Amino acid sequence: MALYLFCGFLVTTLIFMQTLADTSCTDCFTHSRAAYYPNSEDHGTDVGACGFGSFGATINGGDVSAASDLYRNGVGCGACYQVRCTNSAYCSNNGVTVVITDQGSSDHTDFILSEHAFGRMAQTTDATSSLLALGMVDIEYRRVACSYPYKNITFKIDESSNNPNYLAFVIWYQQGKRDITAVQLCETENFVCKLLDRSHGAVWTSTPPPSGPLSIRMLFSDEEEGEETWVVPVNNIPQDWKPGETYDSGVQVNL
Ligand SMILES: *[C@@H]1O[C@H](CO)[C@@H](O)[C@H](O)[C@H]1NC(C)=O
Repeated sequence: MALYLFCGFLVTTLIFMQTLADTSCTDCFTHSRAAYYPNSEDHGTDVGACGFGSFGATINGGDVSAASDLYRNGVGCGACYQVRCTNSAYCSNNGVTVVITDQGSSDHTDFILSEHAFGRMAQTTDATSSLLALGMVDIEYRRVACSYPYKNITFKIDESSNNPNYLAFVIWYQQGKRDITAVQLCETENFVCKLLDRSHGAVWTSTPPPSGPLSIRMLFSDEEEGEETWVVPVNNIPQDWKPGETYDSGVQVNL
């Protein structure tokens, strides 16, 4: 009798653990492949599809990547992934953490890493050259929180902008693991807000933008958890905003 009870308990426990494993798999690694940019620089590209410009090549110490499906029409721009190659002769256990700044795919790859990031998946400097020689490797990846210590979320006005007719900007230094899925541009005097369009990649535009100082509000979404949070900046964009300029939002998130 006691034995039956024990077996019943064991089976229940196993089923319960199985369920837990299935539902808590947001931290699990997914198998895929990665290649690296063939450019001569070891960081990313200045002309990445996300529209981050040279920031998109050099952020995170140049550990950046192009994504194929994970690009998600630009929603994936700025997301961070831990990527590790699986060849135990060359590859370290931690791999590298990269930021998505471009779109691209090679032969069934999810990532085209900067050469810098690709090399950092290796255990040693010798292994780095061996990895680079392979050109394309099997990997595992998972989404992780981005971290930018001592940085606030910053708005970079795109050089193509033209005050007061056309405003285009990208959002730098978004921490955490969520996606920015909507942006509102609000007049700070009348509190009238306008929902912006994502023109491409991480670039948000307004033609024409509202006048006066502006407050840029961002919606942070977690699809898996089904949670959404509007984040309101502390600082406004001044009325005389200039193309090429950066403006500190005065806030940071860890969502
Ligand atoms: C971030 O914003 C706060 C104001 O909200 C400011 O005090 C702080 O200096 C800013 N941090 C950086 C690194 O600019």
